[in-house]
Amino acid sequence: MPRQRVNLIDARAVDPMKLKAPKYGRNDPCPCGSGLKYKKCCMLKPGGEPDLDIEALYARKYRIRVKSAADVEGIRRAGRLVVNTLRMVEAGIRPGLSTEEINTWVHEFTLRHGGVPAPLNYRGFPKSVCVSVNEVICHGIPGERVLNDGDIVNVDVTTILDGYYADANKTYFVGTPGPDARKITAVARECLSRAMAVVKPDHTIGDIGWAIQEYAESQGCSVVREFVGHGVGLDFHEAPQIPHFGRPGTGIAMIPGMVFTIEPMINFGRKELRILDDDWTAVTRDGSLSAQFEQTVLVTPDGCESLTPWEG
Ligand code: MF3
Ligand code: CO
Ligand code: CO
Repeated sequence: MPRQRVNLIDARAVDPMKLKAPKYGRNDPCPCGSGLKYKKCCMLKPGGEPDLDIEALYARKYRIRVKSAADVEGIRRAGRLVVNTLRMVEAGIRPGLSTEEINTWVHEFTLRHGGVPAPLNYRGFPKSVCVSVNEVICHGIPGERVLNDGDIVNVDVTTILDGYYADANKTYFVGTPGPDARKITAVARECLSRAMAVVKPDHTIGDIGWAIQEYAESQGCSVVREFVGHGVGLDFHEAPQIPHFGRPGTGIAMIPGMVFTIEPMINFGRKELRILDDDWTAVTRDGSLSAQFEQTVLVTPDGCESLTPWEG
């Protein structure tokens, strides 16, 4: 995205707090983000109106790194590799396969295409991909577990390519799914799709959470609270956090050039989780099925573009 400057009126629309502050203090930091005092900076300009640099404001206030056009292209390339990796795995999913084999495929495919699997050794994670079966919500560690007919399995791929990160996951059927497996997978997929439909400048992070929570709960399912979507691209997990629950109109307003994941984890039963003794594997407390879908998305001037477009 080209760096954009917005006038004060637009910036106030973005941050309602500013509506109550008609004047800037002479000795306050200049709202343009220069780091100078207002009286040494925009106060000296004709009219004294600061040109708010909204990207500087987002960096200072929220630690959000708005991406440049070159960054977006780099993340898009990493995203293509993630999507190809997911397709490769999907083609091989079958009963009798171990989660360890999926790890080997992802690890080797990623290296062969010039990428690095981001999960490997990330905060001590021992494998190259997260593989989460049935009641496992997320962060399943590949190993001995064998896929059975009727299981659902989530494969979460994060790849670094030329220093850029992209992160996406899908939940797959193993063999023939039963009605509960079908339902939870369809609900989770629809949650992500509804969330992406509200990604747009001036809509807020709370709008995303609400789109997900409202639909999931209307279907009698529940939304996991402990894990959230996240800024991504220059690092694995950046600001802001993207909760998959919330209220419309609350939280940070989206601006073009923001890149983050949306990755709702939806439980068939209750929302509570438990972490296993390996300190990673998150499972539903009630043992019910859990499904997840994730994409890395870019906020564009008129909406949303997936940088990991595994659909279509
Ligand atoms: N890919 C996960 C996410 O969507 C994070 C996995 S962290 C790991 O954010 F260490 F388990 F890989
Ligand atoms: Co993620
Ligand atoms: Co992920």
